[in-house]
Formats: sequence, C-alpha cells, structure tokens
Amino acid sequence: MQPKYDLASVRQQFPVVKDSIYLNHAGIAPIPEVTRQAVVDGVQVLADFHGLEKVFGDLFTNARRTSASLINADPDEIAFVQNTAEGMNLIAHSLPLQAGDNVLTCNQEYPAVAYPFLNLEKRIGIKTRVLPAQNGGLTVDLIDQNADERTRVVAVSSVEFATGFRTDLKAIGEWCHAHKVFYVVDGIQSLGVEPMDVKGWHIDALSSGGHKWMMIPAGQGFMYIDKARLEMMNPPFSGASSVANAGNYLDYDLTPQPDMRRYELGVTNILGVMGLVTSLDFLQSLDIAAIDAWTLHLTDMLMAGVDKLGYEVLVNREPARRSAILIIRIPGDEHNTALKAKLKTVNVKYAERGGGIRLAPHCYNSEEEIAQVLEALSA
Ligand SMILES: Cc1ncc(COP(=O)(O)O)c(C=O)c1O
Repeated sequence: MQPKYDLASVRQQFPVVKDSIYLNHAGIAPIPEVTRQAVVDGVQVLADFHGLEKVFGDLFTNARRTSASLINADPDEIAFVQNTAEGMNLIAHSLPLQAGDNVLTCNQEYPAVAYPFLNLEKRIGIKTRVLPAQNGGLTVDLIDQNADERTRVVAVSSVEFATGFRTDLKAIGEWCHAHKVFYVVDGIQSLGVEPMDVKGWHIDALSSGGHKWMMIPAGQGFMYIDKARLEMMNPPFSGASSVANAGNYLDYDLTPQPDMRRYELGVTNILGVMGLVTSLDFLQSLDIAAIDAWTLHLTDMLMAGVDKLGYEVLVNREPARRSAILIIRIPGDEHNTALKAKLKTVNVKYAERGGGIRLAPHCYNSEEEIAQVLEALSA
C-alpha cells in the first residue's frame, strides 16, 4: 500500500531516515527540510537587517491562515504561544470561574491539561474532578455521570499521550454544547496527523505546542478561542501588543485587541512563526486525512506483527479510538529491557510511556521501516 501522497519525495524532507527509524513523533519530531531552510533564510534576513516589515510583512497573516485552516477556525481566532501549557493556562485563567464551580478531566491527562485547573483550585477554590479514565481516556459516559449544575468546563486531550486513546471529540463537544459547558482541548497529540474541526465539534478553546506532529521547531505553537466566546473571557495579562491601541505606548489604555491578538503580549518569536507557517503548509499540502490513514495503516501493521509474536498491545483496539500511537510490551519483560534491546539493533527511536514502549509513526515512515522493526522484534 502507498499513501495518497508521494512517499519517496516526502521522505527526502527528513534526513533522519538515513540512520534511524524514527518513531517518536508523539515526543518530539524532526522538522522537514523545507522548514529548516525557511528558518535559516529567516536568520539570514535578521542578520542582514534590511527592515523586518519588508520580509516578514505577511508572515503573521500567513501563520494565522495556516493554523486556522488546520483546525477549521477563522484566522482571527488564532494567537501564537510557545507551548501547550502556556495556551491552556491563558484559557483557564481567562474563564469566568468562581469558587464551587467544577471542571471535569481525567487521570490520563498530561500536566498541560490538568495543572492549570488544579492551580485554579488553589487560587480561587474551583474543584477539578480528575475522573478515572475509561478504556484509555475521557468519555461522554464519564462526563455525564460526574457532571452537576456547577460543572463549567470539560478539559481533555485530543489523543492521550500514555494510552494513545483517540478522544471522541465530536461526541464530547455535542454533550458540552447541549449542557452549556465550556470545552477546552489540548491538541498537541493529534494536530498535524489527524483532522481537527473545532467548529463542527463545538470546541470553545484549544491550545497546542508545535514540536510533535506539527513538526514545528520546539517552542512555537498556537491557541484558539471561538470568537463567540471571546468576550466572556477575561485575559489575565496585558502587554504592548495585546491592546487595541498597540504602538501608542504611553496612553496606558488597556482596551484589548478586538481578536485573539489580545493574548499576544509582546514581540513574537519570528523564527518560530516562520517554522510554523512552513511546516503547517507542508503537512496540509499532503492532506491531513491522508496522513491519518497512512499512520493508522502503519500502526495496524505493527499491531498485527506484535500480535503474532504474543506481545501485549496497551492501546484501546476499537478502530475509532486508535491513533498514530501504539504502545507495546513483552509479557514479563520488566522495565522493557528485552524490548529496548531489540529495538536498538535497528536504531528505532521511541519513548517509554504507559508501562510499555510507545511507537508513533508519521507521514514519512514506510512499510519497509515497520517490517524492519518487526524483524528486529522477532529475532
Ligand atoms: C497531551 C500533551 N499535552 C502537552 C504536551 C506538551 O506540553 P507543552 O507543549 O506545554 O510542552 C504533551 C507532551 O508530551 C502531551 O502529550
């Protein structure tokens, strides 16, 4: 089988394929060659310095356009952040929450999801209900059983980092919409590898760093807030860039920007944003649905192979809950010692998560690489 795009030319974008089998995209991903070149060109422009405006003039417009199209939002619903946690904190601390309100999340959430609300628990006395995950993640059933009249927010990851559980974002969105509960999503484990539809799925706010599946240089991401929710939120910070009269530095008028720029406090990371535009344009040119299909095909292959070897597969096997993350273990292999030794023989890059080894292929990985991994595992 082949992906819908030209795999051979996509592989040329990733020199890492020459000496390793890179399967740690759920950790940190290599950036494509086009992005490396764009950032290097950007560095040169900063050094030559013939005026930033001329060269970077439409950079931010392009960056908002490509970020928005990735998630089916409007460009003015995008703000740039360094990482997921920054955006999640900005969202959490902007919400009109009061002591006694509660937030629903689950016990498989990465700190970027849970900590902002646990912090608000300390600061203002909300309650963060950390529900025990159901078959790998947060579900509508769990939410429905644990919500009450003081439930204000549901916070969840699009894919759970340590179980690979693909959250049913649409179903949870429909529940939140029907119950008038604010819906926040951490998108980092799916953006760039799975389609995202914030409008269709009633997502009110989202944040994501770029260093995983979006293949953006680390330290650059974006956040989204539905423009219909913007005015009910109260941004906790202000800076020269976040105010409507940006540039009029001494008028001290805190009236915020009319759109998401109210969350951008000062000068932005120009090189990071150049990386963002190039990587997101590159991935979207391949078609995110095609990447999703291809990575599921590769993890299917892996799963079938390790099933034959009698390994444990630690992800939810229901097709709709599967993601580009597969977690495997050899029964009785304490600390995954034998498994890691086998993977080392063909230089596989992976992470240890959820009690096993997490393997996470992206658009450029090939069937040949997966076959090599399986051969090494069967040795
Ligand atoms: C679900 C999830 N959220 C967030 C992050 C990273 O957070 P940040 O971008 O704040 O470093 C990870 C990384 O492992 C993750 O798996």
